[in-house]
Amino acid sequence: MYHETFTSVDEFISETLTPDDQALRDALEVAEAAGLPSIQVSPPQGRLLQILARLVGARQVLEFGTLGGYSTILLARTLPRDGRLITLEANPEYAEVARRSIERAGLGEIVDNRVGPALETLPDLETEGAGPFDFVFIDADKVSTPDYFAWSLDRTRPGGLIVADNVVRDGTLAETDSDDDATRAQRRLHKMLAAEPRVAATTIQTVGVKGYDGFTVALVEGA
Ligand code: SAH
Ligand code: DHB
Ligand code: MG
Repeated sequence: MYHETFTSVDEFISETLTPDDQALRDALEVAEAAGLPSIQVSPPQGRLLQILARLVGARQVLEFGTLGGYSTILLARTLPRDGRLITLEANPEYAEVARRSIERAGLGEIVDNRVGPALETLPDLETEGAGPFDFVFIDADKVSTPDYFAWSLDRTRPGGLIVADNVVRDGTLAETDSDDDATRAQRRLHKMLAAEPRVAATTIQTVGVKGYDGFTVALVEGA
């Protein structure tokens, strides 16, 4: 009902506060031309990811869900030259589109694209001894968010941050008897967080160009 207003306000915020970034514009254009869904984070959300990554002094980042590389480029831009961002994507065509955009953005040295369902590529990261991570962005298949969170928590340093997108889901997060698997997963995530002494976490509801949703932020304790 208010979607037009949410969109206008997002546009105002983006035009006013989001720096012009040709690589990001190109990445979106290429992704659209290749037929990728337009479900990347909004520019204001992307800006928040950058601010959070900078606040924790991120050098090692893990991302679940690359899509066309929009959030990947945003996050990789905040890293020092010797920083590293590992991004996981199940769809090989999306991953290839993203890889090219990331390369064009001059971030090919920093970003490590891994193709395949994350639950299948995580064991490789484990074997390689990847991490510990300073910042994790969980934004892939929503039913697996609790699993990705559990895996990441064991490999995020104290003082590091884990952010999970799309947890409010049009408000269905509040439905105790939801039969939607994605919603049930977000409720499970929240139960895990409640019982987890290693994090301080909260969830913020959002409106904007992407409608009504929200994200969880979990700070790993002990820094
Ligand atoms: N983070 C991106 C948007 C990601 S959209 C951005 O803001 O720019 C979600 C992505 O997760 C899609 O590209 C989808 O193909 C991918 N995905 C779905 N299931 C997955 C899985 N099991 N493992 C890894 N990626 C997955
Ligand atoms: C979808 C995925 C996202 O990460 C998002 O922010 C919005 C929608 C989706 O899979 O539909
Ligand atoms: Mg998302």
